Amino acid sequence: MENGTAIIFSHFLAREHGTSMTYLILILIMIISFLIHLVSFQALNVRGSGKSNRHQFQLPPGPKPWPVIGCLPQMLRNRPTFAWIHQLMKDMNTEIACIRLGSIHVIPVTCPNIAREILKSQDEAFSSRPDFMSSTLVSRGYLATTLSPPGDQWKKMRKILVTSCLSPAKHRLFYRKRLEVADNLVSYLYSQCKDNPEKGGLVNVRLATQHYCGNVIRKIVFNKRNFGKGMKDGGPGIEEKEHIDALFTILFYVFSFCISDYMPSLIGLDLEGHEKVLKENTDIVNKYHDPIIQERIRQWRNGMKDQEEDLLDILIALKDNNGNPLLSIEEIKAQITEIVLASVDNPSNAAEWAIAEMINQPKIMKKAVEELDSVVGSERLVQESDFSKLQYVKACAREAFRLHPMQPFNVPHVSTMDTTIANYFIPKGSHVLLSRMRLGRNSKVWDEPHKYRPERHLSNSDDVLLIEPELRFISFSTGRRGCIGVNLGTSMTIMLFARLLQGFNWSAPPGKSAVDLNESKIGLTLAQPLVALAKPRLPQALYQELTSCINHS
Ligand code: HEM
Repeated sequence: MENGTAIIFSHFLAREHGTSMTYLILILIMIISFLIHLVSFQALNVRGSGKSNRHQFQLPPGPKPWPVIGCLPQMLRNRPTFAWIHQLMKDMNTEIACIRLGSIHVIPVTCPNIAREILKSQDEAFSSRPDFMSSTLVSRGYLATTLSPPGDQWKKMRKILVTSCLSPAKHRLFYRKRLEVADNLVSYLYSQCKDNPEKGGLVNVRLATQHYCGNVIRKIVFNKRNFGKGMKDGGPGIEEKEHIDALFTILFYVFSFCISDYMPSLIGLDLEGHEKVLKENTDIVNKYHDPIIQERIRQWRNGMKDQEEDLLDILIALKDNNGNPLLSIEEIKAQITEIVLASVDNPSNAAEWAIAEMINQPKIMKKAVEELDSVVGSERLVQESDFSKLQYVKACAREAFRLHPMQPFNVPHVSTMDTTIANYFIPKGSHVLLSRMRLGRNSKVWDEPHKYRPERHLSNSDDVLLIEPELRFISFSTGRRGCIGVNLGTSMTIMLFARLLQGFNWSAPPGKSAVDLNESKIGLTLAQPLVALAKPRLPQALYQELTSCINHS
């Protein structure tokens, strides 16, 4: 089945085939850049002398960089870059490194103490973001929040999100929308097994979880689950599939170690095709978002609309002190795209991995289902008000975030001043990459780190939460650039996961005793979308009633 990952993988393969020519051109360009820069080159990296001229502390350990181009040739020879960086760190036996790419010091970190020093003790010094071609494109020139540097625009947009869009009051207001999508999920899954509920049906769990997330955020932002007609069974139509695939492709490419990120003089040459892929996919997203946004602005301006029904209405209706619209059309478009991007990948990936892990460890699955049966029973479907009693289910989701983060690294943080971390010198402008992958799998912190074991998150007293402010793994991160969608992200994740488990028994496809838990070669998702056998486990009438109530708009 065609899906986002398959598309990304095919882009990746195509790139790999076209690599030799690209590589030659790149080497030529690098030699020319090198010669041009050589004259004015000031020793950016002083590793040769072992000490910084500006500081008594050394840079963190790392491979010796070439002048001007740094370690870009090694990076290009060793795609995917996240695996190369982690291997380098393992070989050097270090939890903080410095890899110079072009003129940028890239600082990967795999240790929670150092991560806390960065995002807690020195939060402000690391509050900026990189200036990348991808970020500029996706954020329409840094008009939204996540990708913007820490100036007035970031402050304005972050405040709007916190106070007007994602506040606890707004979260409650959108409860029915989230519920409608959760009901649709169960109904859609049931439609795939209803022909023979005893035997069950094969379900593409990745498709179901990604489209659940797409549905939630489309419903909250645009007040509709589908851009087109959707499918009769509640599944995604062509439009929703295209939308989700484009979102996942953008998320894959936005921090993909593009050469021009580190040598901006190469922007426009598009040596590896990243620019083309990003432009094509932002165009697809804009094709769906822009007409709705423009039409809605028109309705508000000519008085056809005066009630806020969704996040788009909220953003349009905001006024400045003079009673004029607070946000420009471009700002609204940029912020909407960012909200949609921020919502789709983490919950769907965590649920897909958790179900896969639990199929291979049925005792864990049984325990989670027993908890759901005792808290919720089988006469009704799980609701958000049940979450406080679903400690084991939440521990299962938290464990999926620890072991299987969606991205290898956190969103990059850029240092706004020279500073020291763990007694190493970190120059202004460094890109700090906290490793979501290695923090969560750090054997100094976690017993049997590669084992999916939700019990590790249970304690008798504390509520199990998905946040991890101590950065022993990264879910929502922390500090001034920490995630502001924690409530929504948590509700989406727990509801998705709880409905999957309560509504269906999950097992490997017929003829198989386990599912394949291999990771993709180009990221941290499952190598193949999880396809599993789902059997309805609640009374038939409950599903049938649900299906008849679903509004298929
Ligand atoms: C389970 C779901 C989610 C997870 C795991 C998650 C995780 C993250 C992470 C790791 C960051 C980067 C923090 C950093 O730079 O240190 C982030 C930032 C952010 N997230 Fe989320 N997120 C989720 C859902 C959402 C949702 C639903 C929204 C909004 C609708 C959202 C909005 C944001 C924003 C605006 C930022 C950037 C904050 C800034 O740079 O000032 N997130 N998120």
